[in-house]
Amino acid sequence: RGGRSSYVYDFEGTAPQPFETDKVITPKGFTWKPLVKWGDPIVKGAPKFDFDKQTAAAQAKQFGYNCDYVGLVRARGCHDKGLLVVNNEYTNDELMFRGYTGAAALTPEQIKITMAAHGMSVVEVSKKGREWKARLGARQNRRITTTTPFAFDGPAAGSELLQTKADPTGRRVLGTFGNCSGGVTPWGTVLSGEENFNGYFKVDAAPAGQEDAFKRYGLTGSKGRSWEKVDPRFDAAQDPNESNRFGYVIEVDPSDPRSTPRKHTAMGRLKHEGANVTIAPDGRAVAVMGDDEKFDYMYKFVSSGKYVEGNKRHNMSLLTEGDLYVAKFTGDGAQDGVSDGTGEWLPLVLDGKSKVPGFTVAQVLVHTRLAADKVGPTKMDRPEDVDINPVNKRVYAALTNNDKRVPSQIDEANPRATNKHGQVIEITAPKNDHTKTTFTWKLVLICGDPNDPATYFNGYDRTQVSPISCPDNVAFDSKGNLWISTDGNALGNADAFFMMPLSGPYQGHLQQFQTMPHGAESAGPLIVDDTTVLCSVQHPGEVEGASPDAPVSQFPYDGTGQPRPSVIQVFATKH
Ligand code: FEO
Ligand code: CA
Ligand code: CA
Ligand code: CA
Repeated sequence: RGGRSSYVYDFEGTAPQPFETDKVITPKGFTWKPLVKWGDPIVKGAPKFDFDKQTAAAQAKQFGYNCDYVGLVRARGCHDKGLLVVNNEYTNDELMFRGYTGAAALTPEQIKITMAAHGMSVVEVSKKGREWKARLGARQNRRITTTTPFAFDGPAAGSELLQTKADPTGRRVLGTFGNCSGGVTPWGTVLSGEENFNGYFKVDAAPAGQEDAFKRYGLTGSKGRSWEKVDPRFDAAQDPNESNRFGYVIEVDPSDPRSTPRKHTAMGRLKHEGANVTIAPDGRAVAVMGDDEKFDYMYKFVSSGKYVEGNKRHNMSLLTEGDLYVAKFTGDGAQDGVSDGTGEWLPLVLDGKSKVPGFTVAQVLVHTRLAADKVGPTKMDRPEDVDINPVNKRVYAALTNNDKRVPSQIDEANPRATNKHGQVIEITAPKNDHTKTTFTWKLVLICGDPNDPATYFNGYDRTQVSPISCPDNVAFDSKGNLWISTDGNALGNADAFFMMPLSGPYQGHLQQFQTMPHGAESAGPLIVDDTTVLCSVQHPGEVEGASPDAPVSQFPYDGTGQPRPSVIQVFATKH
């Protein structure tokens, strides 16, 4: 190996920073640079970013707002170029427009700008020396926004619940938004989770017959974001089923900018944080997923078909048909001093049939939360990112927090009431076969101030670790070390990235890697070739009373005077 500092897992931990620090702080020997920023003209013909002269037409060709998930798709053996695929989850309208006084006062053009700033961005990137560069205007660059046509697939496609005035077939829908985390599939496409879709719809009253579902998905009483003023489908009174068409795992083939992305109904409808796929020993694709809401569940999808190496076209059909499960965790008691136990995947759809009494397959897949409620899964502390460690083949899920849990609701997997700091759960499948319906589990991290005896760092000495709060995304380097990003640090510190070895003498030695600027969440870490950490700096400057006239953050400090959510790269300054 070529010296400590070229390997990101060999860094010296950094100290927690106050939330107000408007800086990206990297470990000694590392530096950071922006890779692509909100407004960068990524699609050919896009105008240069101009904060005060933004238009919807420009934004639709520029890099979107509030980048979250970061994926890199590379051809096998190709280390110096690839396609960066990024979620643009939501917008901070108060930071995008001077004089903002609320969604109700936005002009139609401003509303269209926010709609065009949502979705996803695909950007060709290449590496020279240590540094990655975005290739603005490159052929494969693409924006996916709230108006991009998508196709539904899977058993609920075409069902009555998905039919609208604009689409009586129930098979074609415009756009995606609220895209939080995601994953690159083994066949080179990207999955992305539609998460907080409910807040985009104006719902004065739940439509007749869907009262329970609207309530369960947080749609009832939603005021929306004024989008209904430029597109009536965002008003439930105009189209009662449009909101049933969001909350899916979507799949994008970034290699073809003209391809129609798809929404996979077979994977259920939730506030999907994201999805990550592994190939089981028998060749079936298994996706693990979280539903990001207090007291909601973890899910797993097992494809009917089998993965065929090199046959992308076939593999792109795998997520259209299969079994859907929800997780139940049973503790083995606190006497052993560890939060752990056994678990079961409870089927919702099995062999093409509904396993939920009173629900058709389409109802299970569109009103998945209501269906899952019927089978007794474990109510978790907000399941965020769920991913499979490529080295030890175990599943890791960030359970970010749940301040609403009361003492009578504690269980071994969710062991704290008023849980402000969250935990990370590890799931081990029998013989690493994730198609199996039983598993064992353990909390490898119970977050918080390490001086708090309720915290746990996978057995490591608590006096030697970093504080951490509100884990959100998880990722792995080639050694199988767990990387964690945080969102909403409840210790009052800036959000950051952390690394924690999962085995060996440093098992549980959690250290802070890099810190986010004022108001920003750390998102989507991607460890590239163990030399670079790509990550999203999401919502810099997002604080109470934020305004473009006096922003608290000017990240990435490019002279525009405004915060610009960006994907950045962190790398060692010397090899
Ligand atoms: Fe968008 Fe679940 O964080
Ligand atoms: Ca135990
Ligand atoms: Ca997230
Ligand atoms: Ca989050």
